[in-house]
Amino acid sequence: MRLLAIESSCDESAVAMLEFDQNQRPAVLSEVIASQSHIHREYGGVVPELAAREHLSSLPLLSAKVLADTGTRMRDLSAIAVTRGPGLKGCLLMGFGFAQGLALSADLPLVGVNHIEGHALSPLLDNPDLDFPYLCLIVSGGHTEIQAVHGLGRYQLIARTGDDAAGEAFDKSANLLSFEYPGGASLAALADTVNHSEFKLPKVMREAEGFSFSGLKTAISLLVKKEAVRIQDPQVRAELAFAVQESIVDALVFKLKAALSAGDYRRVAVCGGVAANQALRKRIQGLKGVDVYFPKLTHCMDNAAMIGMAGALRFLRSERLEAGGTVMPRWPLETLQ
Ligand code: KG4
Ligand code: ZN
Repeated sequence: MRLLAIESSCDESAVAMLEFDQNQRPAVLSEVIASQSHIHREYGGVVPELAAREHLSSLPLLSAKVLADTGTRMRDLSAIAVTRGPGLKGCLLMGFGFAQGLALSADLPLVGVNHIEGHALSPLLDNPDLDFPYLCLIVSGGHTEIQAVHGLGRYQLIARTGDDAAGEAFDKSANLLSFEYPGGASLAALADTVNHSEFKLPKVMREAEGFSFSGLKTAISLLVKKEAVRIQDPQVRAELAFAVQESIVDALVFKLKAALSAGDYRRVAVCGGVAANQALRKRIQGLKGVDVYFPKLTHCMDNAAMIGMAGALRFLRSERLEAGGTVMPRWPLETLQ
């Protein structure tokens, strides 16, 4: 079974071609991403209208490339999978409309995929031995939650952020430390150049039900003002970055440990852009009594392969998008079946 997958929920246009064997094991035959961060950088964040326009021009080119790279004709495909939500409405509409057009013209079934489900199932792409159930820490620029993944469409929310996402906390802190948007990965790279910090940031709030990262931003903003002169020193800046990273990673690991001790899980998976963070990976790899799974780095960030993974499993369950269906900019994972 060969499937074309399309992702456009935020500022990455992505297309992938996947093939599944009889045991539903995936092989990613080709995948391409057009990142738009250079466009949004000067505005300090994603500009929805610009992002949507970029998707419109990128997606046809990316799809043509993936089809050509894999020598696939439209009639060789079993289905097309596309992100239906959650995400920026204008961006979702571009990918969705494009996929609908392709499906209609080639008379192919279309499957609408939940982007968060894509992230939650992304560890299956690169870990053939990973089985349900697993505890999944989903940490991206837009989402931070822990879900118990019992199977396709069987999700149980364990904890969620009440305000910013972990990636957003990294990016906002990075902005305060004068990194270009999105600065999360650059802040992490600088933090990794030192192994201690003279700065102690307050613990990220660990409310009963979830996380709260907004207090961290205030604390850093005050610290940056107070240390305005010393921060010019590269060592001081690196130690500040280290403190930020420690604070975010510590909160995530704390909640994950609490979830592990409250349930009987033997597997932990981590996904989303922040799963690329090396300090977080190390801490989670050190957890005792559980097997730990990560997607490869390119499948942590927004990508189309994960949409193909979730789309294929739903296609095999005979799910099809009804004619006239449209995007769902707000679409919590635990409402899926
Ligand atoms: O999953 P993703 O590509 O997009 C969303 O769905 O949001 O995640 C992007 C987020 C950004 O906030 C980015 O700064 C963060 O992931 N990120 C990192 C690292 N690499 C990407 N944060 C911390 N450390 C990293 N190495
Ligand atoms: Zn995402």
